[in-house]
Amino acid sequence: MPPSKARKFLKRKAAHELPDAFLEQNIDKLRAFVKAHKDKRPPQTMPAGRLRVFADCAGMSSETVALRLLGFDASTMEFVGGSEIDPVKRCLMQSVHRTCNQSKHKEGLEHDIFDRCMSNTPESDLYISGFPCPAYSSCGIKKGAKDGKGRGLLIFEGLKYITYRKPSLVILEQVAGFAHKRHTRTHQVMKKCFQALKYKVYFRKLATQEHGIPQSRTRCFFIAFRKNVSFRFPKALPKPRLKKFLDDTKGVEKVALSFYEQKYGAGIWKEELRHRLKSRLAI
Ligand SMILES: C[S@@+](CC[C@H](N)C(=O)[O-])C[C@H]1O[C@@H](n2cnc3c(N)ncnc32)[C@H](O)[C@@H]1O
Repeated sequence: MPPSKARKFLKRKAAHELPDAFLEQNIDKLRAFVKAHKDKRPPQTMPAGRLRVFADCAGMSSETVALRLLGFDASTMEFVGGSEIDPVKRCLMQSVHRTCNQSKHKEGLEHDIFDRCMSNTPESDLYISGFPCPAYSSCGIKKGAKDGKGRGLLIFEGLKYITYRKPSLVILEQVAGFAHKRHTRTHQVMKKCFQALKYKVYFRKLATQEHGIPQSRTRCFFIAFRKNVSFRFPKALPKPRLKKFLDDTKGVEKVALSFYEQKYGAGIWKEELRHRLKSRLAI
């Protein structure tokens, strides 16, 4: 597929900061796209009884790993497509998908999100994306939507998919810096888009160390439901002791899920969240 106009522009310019006019043009295009497609009928949720997952900027597909850890398997979930520009990460993704028995790992996976033809995209029930963070990170130059490499525009492409395919549940993740008021323009665009599509959006910053992970990392989460459901973010958990994450054995690396199931019991991956997620989507 030939590169999109946005991609051609970005290649030509390789600018430090995108011109205001270019950004506004992109926002206008998104607005027109939403207007044209917002009333299109949403698809049936999980027609085959399986959660169809679509992931943009999917990297190694950690959402597949997370769903697997929540107890979803090939009979209850299906990775239907998404995007990832980096060939090395696409290889890693294939390995993850093979391990999780996801057969469709290549179909529906676009390389560059800007090259996507919307009518060729598959329908999905769960849209998930962690857009690249350099445009928003407090360690970067914080240009946000005006990032010269176009990384701040990726979210608009994701919003187009959401508009066109209307997944039941949307999960967006971004670095904490994304919540800063310097990115208000992007926040407004997102808000208007979700409002027009009648999604109910929940937002919170969550710190990994408060949710059972031995790491200090704060991230913004947007959870958006197409149907009106009440949702609560999980409460902070007591910080686990590091010992929990260390193997008892010396010098032997154990990564098999079954090893942890044996160590902590079969219910370790099947927390309350899995049931809540399933019942939400089966509305
Ligand atoms: C923050 S990482 C997301 C990591 C991912 N959630 C995972 O599980 O590994 C952002 C990803 O966006 C990808 N990316 C950057 N520009 C892209 C583009 N134009 N189209 C598709 N993917 C892109 C990067 O290669 C990177 O893997």
